[in-house]
Amino acid sequence: MIQAEGLTKRYGAFTAVDGLDLDVPAGQIFGFLGPNGAGKTTTIRMLVGLLRPTAGRVRIDGIDLAEDPLAARARVAYLPDTPYLYEKLTGREFIHFVGGLYRVPPERVERLIGELLPLFGLADRADDLIEGYSHGMRQKTVLAAALAHDPKVLFLDEPTVGLDPRSARLLRDILRQMADRGATVFLSTHILEIAERMCDRIGIIDHGRLIALGTVEDLHRQADRSASLEDIFLELTGGAAEAEIAGMLR
Ligand SMILES: Nc1ncnc2c1ncn2[C@@H]1O[C@H](COP(=O)(O)OP(=O)(O)O)[C@@H](O)[C@H]1O
Ligand SMILES: [Mg+2]
Repeated sequence: MIQAEGLTKRYGAFTAVDGLDLDVPAGQIFGFLGPNGAGKTTTIRMLVGLLRPTAGRVRIDGIDLAEDPLAARARVAYLPDTPYLYEKLTGREFIHFVGGLYRVPPERVERLIGELLPLFGLADRADDLIEGYSHGMRQKTVLAAALAHDPKVLFLDEPTVGLDPRSARLLRDILRQMADRGATVFLSTHILEIAERMCDRIGIIDHGRLIALGTVEDLHRQADRSASLEDIFLELTGGAAEAEIAGMLR
């Protein structure tokens, strides 16, 4: 469902993403794990067609993103790490606005709002202005809007940042349900526990390169059997990352 071949992004002499090959089948939750600055956001922005690769190609559901960007992007939803919301719209208006961009009939959007917002604990705030929303409420509003056109592939960049445990669990359950219904989920995270708990398969990226790929068990098998994913991750991503991640986990 998501295929990348030799995906590369250079900024001048600096290579942010370096010859990435990926193949994520339908119905899977794929975790893209790596320390800060590894190239996760850059990769996702290329996979959703927001950033032009220096080299390489992307196919979504078999459609080449460069050849038929509209068709490819119609299948995709993208939750950026810092979503932009219109402060002067209400949650309901925002979801209708995004649904409209994807030409989803308003009745369908309204039905979705009726189903999702109570689940997200947002039902009684749907008609309040977004400027009064907390970070978590904004995240959930953007997620609801992203689901409006029933995407086949959902990209989420560090989706659990700023979510309380209850909302994070809810997100996990929703992503699992979507995957069980055949959608493909690609999420980036720097948090090992999230990757381990939420994802069917994990790719570890460091300095723009994919340095490990497999199920949690595969990754354990590649390393010492007794090693935790944390140990494997720290070993693979080396010293600087080790200090950084260790700091984050504290
Ligand atoms: N527009 C840009 N110009 C120059 N360097 C960039 C640009 N965008 C990202 N980078 C660099 O590319 C690397 C990867 O960034 P990013 O993809 O945001 O990492 P991550 O999301 O894994 O934290 C970083 O070193 C970052 O500074
Ligand atoms: Mg990022």
